[in-house]
Amino acid sequence: MNSENPDRLVAPEIQDGESQDLSLRPTCLGEYIGQSTIKENLRVFIHAARKRGQALDHVLLSGPPGLGKTTLANIFANELNVPLRSSSGPVVERQGDLAAILTNLEPGSVLFLDEIHRMNRVVEEVLYSAMEDFTLDILIGEGPAARTVKLDLPRFTLVGATTRAGLLSAPLRDRFGIQCRLEYYNPEELKLIIIRAAALLEIEIVEEAAMELATRSRGTPRIANRMLRRCRDFADLETGGVITLKLVQKSLARMGIDALGLDKMDCQILRTIIEKYDGGPVGLNTLSAAVSEEQDTLEEVYEPFLLMQGFLQRTPRGRMATRQAYEHLGMNIRSENQLHLFSNR
Ligand SMILES: Nc1ncnc2c1ncn2[C@@H]1O[C@H](COP(=O)(O)OP(=O)(O)OP(=O)(O)O)[C@@H](O)[C@H]1O
Ligand SMILES: [Mg+2]
Repeated sequence: MNSENPDRLVAPEIQDGESQDLSLRPTCLGEYIGQSTIKENLRVFIHAARKRGQALDHVLLSGPPGLGKTTLANIFANELNVPLRSSSGPVVERQGDLAAILTNLEPGSVLFLDEIHRMNRVVEEVLYSAMEDFTLDILIGEGPAARTVKLDLPRFTLVGATTRAGLLSAPLRDRFGIQCRLEYYNPEELKLIIIRAAALLEIEIVEEAAMELATRSRGTPRIANRMLRRCRDFADLETGGVITLKLVQKSLARMGIDALGLDKMDCQILRTIIEKYDGGPVGLNTLSAAVSEEQDTLEEVYEPFLLMQGFLQRTPRGRMATRQAYEHLGMNIRSENQLHLFSNR
């Protein structure tokens, strides 16, 4: 995904070299900014599990990339004061791999499985009994002599993370007692995240500059932190290290990011719908050919933000640019067809 442009500043996925972002990761719920409903509920569940001395119920974290799922999984282990073991769906290739992980868990551990929607269905079946009654059915021997043995597992908490909750099978999804859907952050929350990150990285930033970065970071902490680092580079050269409002505006303009965080490709997609297809509806395959970008990339990388911002609509007949898109790009609604559609909404 996003293979066309791996260095895209506003890509929500993790990029090369960003894994050292560890220093910015909140380590307890108190440091975790935003997602207040989820946080309050989790606080209660964690407290109750600790009080009873039991493992926390299994948790499914879903939501777009870069919103803090991995961060939360780490926080669970810290707050519960138990060991964390991490793996990911595509890495666990065979049933035996998963069995090995499960049988080696220390009692009470958090097992974090990232990209759980990408786990092989055959492997996934091992999880059913493991999650439900902490047992493992193992097949020993072959042919007529084969028999299954039930192994007891230590109690553990499975924390599954997925960017595509819809792809999870129902039996797996139903075994998670706690399900949290992370939402995009609002600019106020992102401002706090940026100010916190700046303090940790010893970057000087004025408040209005932090707010400006926040409104342009597409509701995503990972993007906010990335933009902060890039602005620091410009600041080192231009303002002796201080990130000012003007510096943010200038730096982001140079990197092709507009006032709401859209980059050139986002604008090109909207412009194409408006100019070539009269505002839409236009089918995904036609749009994909017109902007020379793969359908999957359009759907998974570009559209979520445009939909979230209300610039794009998905209709049964195809994609449409909204009135906000016209306004943001400073374009006039020309066709009668479009006026009619808008007035009917
Ligand atoms: N609530 C938060 N408060 C402060 N910083 C946060 C918060 N959530 C995320 N971050 C920052 O954003 C970065 C990305 O978060 P994280 O890696 O947890 O996202 P993710 O949801 O696991 O993404 P992916 O789907 O790509 O795995 C973290 O390194 C952390 O610095
Ligand atoms: Mg992650």
